[in-house]
Amino acid sequence: MSNPIIVPLDVPDADAARRLLDALSPSVDQFKIGKQLFTAVGPRAVDLVHSYDKRVFLDLKYHDIPNTVQQAAASADGLGVWMLNVHVAGGSAMLRAAREGAGRRMLLIGVTVLTSLDDELWTEVHGDGALAIPEQVPRMANVAEAAGLDGVVASPREIASVRTACGDAFRIVTPGVRPAGSDHGDQRRAMTPGEAVSAGADYLVIGRPITQADDPSAAARAVLEEVERARSQRS
Ligand code: C5P
Repeated sequence: MSNPIIVPLDVPDADAARRLLDALSPSVDQFKIGKQLFTAVGPRAVDLVHSYDKRVFLDLKYHDIPNTVQQAAASADGLGVWMLNVHVAGGSAMLRAAREGAGRRMLLIGVTVLTSLDDELWTEVHGDGALAIPEQVPRMANVAEAAGLDGVVASPREIASVRTACGDAFRIVTPGVRPAGSDHGDQRRAMTPGEAVSAGADYLVIGRPITQADDPSAAARAVLEEVERARSQRS
């Protein structure tokens, strides 16, 4: 049974990342490195995760001209990254270039609409005539799939529409997951791990409910058990 949990290393330096890796490597196979840690530590952060024999989701959300993104994706492949993401808003030429640079070994994932954007912020940038966010997300997922990406990041409320719009092999990576009974923090529309998997998520990005638990490894194992129950009910 594959382990779908991805834990973000949302920490400022390598020592803090090492503490999380020490605590979690018994029960987590994938770790996400975002802009905070990568800007502070650079590719050494990727090497650090690899030294624990774990896989890296490099969450740098590239969005630039096609040639620049292609070269950056090739650099990420050179680091041996497992999963990389780019903004679908960069357009299909950029997405195809990213695929070209990334090669076939890495999972290449698209970011559709940032969940931090609400209707007001969306309309401010795109105007009153723009598609509403719930229609925009599956549309962008289709663009990503057609350009050869492996999947998209989708919040819990978007999983169903993306799953309907794209094929079964298209990967859905879902943040905003909260185990039953845990603090929702700033994640307003959370789902439990079981609900997210039942709705069609393939990977779950779960941060604070695991990293700030008294026993992070036990918290990760509890999530995994919940996921396995949901999977067995689905099959
Ligand atoms: O602690 P928490 O589980 O909220 O962490 C979730 C991780 O997923 C963070 O690294 C956050 O930046 C990221 N993320 C998110 N919501 C999105 C996209 C990414 O929380 N829509």
